Amino acid sequence: MRLLFLGDVVGRPGRRALAAFLPRLMARESIQFVIANGENASGGKGIDPRSAEELYESGVDVVTTGNHVWQNRDIIPYMRETDRLLRPLNFARDVPGLGWTVQTARRSDVRVGVLNLIGRVFMPPAECPFRAGAEAVEELRRHSSVIVVDMHAEATSEKVGMGRFLDGKVSAVFGSHTHVQTADDVATGTVIVQGGIVDVDEATGRASAIRRVRERVEV
Ligand SMILES: [Fe+2]
Repeated sequence: MRLLFLGDVVGRPGRRALAAFLPRLMARESIQFVIANGENASGGKGIDPRSAEELYESGVDVVTTGNHVWQNRDIIPYMRETDRLLRPLNFARDVPGLGWTVQTARRSDVRVGVLNLIGRVFMPPAECPFRAGAEAVEELRRHSSVIVVDMHAEATSEKVGMGRFLDGKVSAVFGSHTHVQTADDVATGTVIVQGGIVDVDEATGRASAIRRVRERVEV
């Protein structure tokens, strides 16, 4: 199967760019499942229920978040009712919401596990993402061969570390939070939709290919 990860969707320009561009990208690339980090989809900081719904309408299957997830309080009751909007699993125990989910792709019957983790380097306190990630992946593998991780973190090294830690156990580990890909481009002017497309063997859950998505969209 082919899946797409996008991050981070920032404010109205980000939501509009996805509404305009995502259906085209999905058709062009035969994408069956879309994960987007939406923690800053509302006003550039936080996410509210309406913005989450907008992302789903654009084609996103699962929305992941991070350190700004609680910026809009409206998201707390909404998060208790949905299993498509995640918050980092390694937040303090008993905070609202889910840290992982298993969803069926819209255009096929493949089940995809999505895990949301947050880093600790140059970030507010959280439980160990490696310990939480290892336990969650063990559980997720009982439900799905295809597993994608959003490692929401500041330091490239910590994201790469998680990639190596989960290598062979999950289909892909993506890094979010920095708003630009590690090419460190400065986001000015035209909106840039950024992410990655992964081809996954449905039987084994192993990734066979990954490509960068980086498209300028006029909105
Ligand atoms: Fe963040």
